Amino acid sequence: MNYNKKTVKDLDVKGKKVLCRCDFNVPQDKATGAITDDKRIVAALPTLKYLLEQGAAVIACSHLGKPKGERKESLTLAPVAKRLSELLGCEVIFANDTIGEDAKAKAAALQPGQIMLLENLRFDIREEKNDPEFAKALADMAEVYVSDAFGTVHRAHASTAGVAAYLPAVSGFLIEKELEIMGGALANPKRPLVAILGGAKVSSKIGVINNLLDIADTIIIGGGMAYTFIKAMGGTVGTSLLEEDRLDYCKEMMAKAKEKGVKFLLPVDTLCAAEFSADATPELVETMAIPADRMGMDIGPKTIELFADAVKDAGTVIWNGPMGVFEFPAFAEGTRALAKALAETNAITIVGGGDSAAAVAQLGFADKMTHISTGGGASLEFLEGKELPGVACLLDK
Ligand code: 3PG
Repeated sequence: MNYNKKTVKDLDVKGKKVLCRCDFNVPQDKATGAITDDKRIVAALPTLKYLLEQGAAVIACSHLGKPKGERKESLTLAPVAKRLSELLGCEVIFANDTIGEDAKAKAAALQPGQIMLLENLRFDIREEKNDPEFAKALADMAEVYVSDAFGTVHRAHASTAGVAAYLPAVSGFLIEKELEIMGGALANPKRPLVAILGGAKVSSKIGVINNLLDIADTIIIGGGMAYTFIKAMGGTVGTSLLEEDRLDYCKEMMAKAKEKGVKFLLPVDTLCAAEFSADATPELVETMAIPADRMGMDIGPKTIELFADAVKDAGTVIWNGPMGVFEFPAFAEGTRALAKALAETNAITIVGGGDSAAAVAQLGFADKMTHISTGGGASLEFLEGKELPGVACLLDK
């Protein structure tokens, strides 16, 4: 896939209406609706500020949650407009529909240097269906399309891909940065390239493991998904997470690693517990011999040493997925120690979005990483080497 895409800097946007797709899909407090993490709004600021400074009239748009084509007041983007206005230090005009009368009238009246935000795109079912009429109606409000919604580039929706058929389409600075850093790490990595994969399920990382086996020098597997590999190697995993139907796949991947000369590291010791609970007492056992009534909850100290050692002399480290149940303090040490090892290495360190980004932030290492992706599903599909519709639709340089 070609990552060399035109950016906002390659177009003259002065005096033009610019439709800017952002990913403002932010977490909110269930009871109050308050935004609990505004990272994604902050990440869109460089592009929005640049467009405004250049004298563009900016029509920002995004989805929030999964309203499935229905208007749900709990998923209105109004709180995002408010937060965006605070961060930009200017008024953000809010349209209470997407391609309806209010949006059209406000877009038509929008002046250079002003910004408006459309209501949640997914209140209209045609957004997710990539309906051409819906895409055209969005495009009709503007003269240029800028996509900066990296977190949503794996979706072929009207606002992330369809609209590019009707307008000159370029990337914003966030997508440019994500493509440059992650694309660079995959296409031309500073070696050795170490990939650390964790999280609960092998099945969600199949494509990533497969693709990275062709690229990485070392692959480290931790988290819940490690136990299916351990079982595939003949170990006993007790009541740990296990995907029986992936045992053959795990064997194939380990054979592929051997054939390609890729170092494949699995946990050697494990902190286990009798039950999945924050209060459970951690017990240290050898990973290949987890007792029948115990479940693996985190990597142990020997594994931490093994993994940290592989990271120490790396040129590039890509990390996706926690090493254990880091939400429970008694089982957070593996993830914390690995985040610390990444913080201390001189390697380029890239953290995939979702749980790993949350873990790094929660454990206080966020500012020590080279790059933390704003994409969860999007960064996973990127690491799988899949074509991303929201990137493919942009103009090539
Ligand atoms: C995300 O949070 O990963 C993106 O905003 C995409 O959201 P989606 O999974 O609802 O398409």
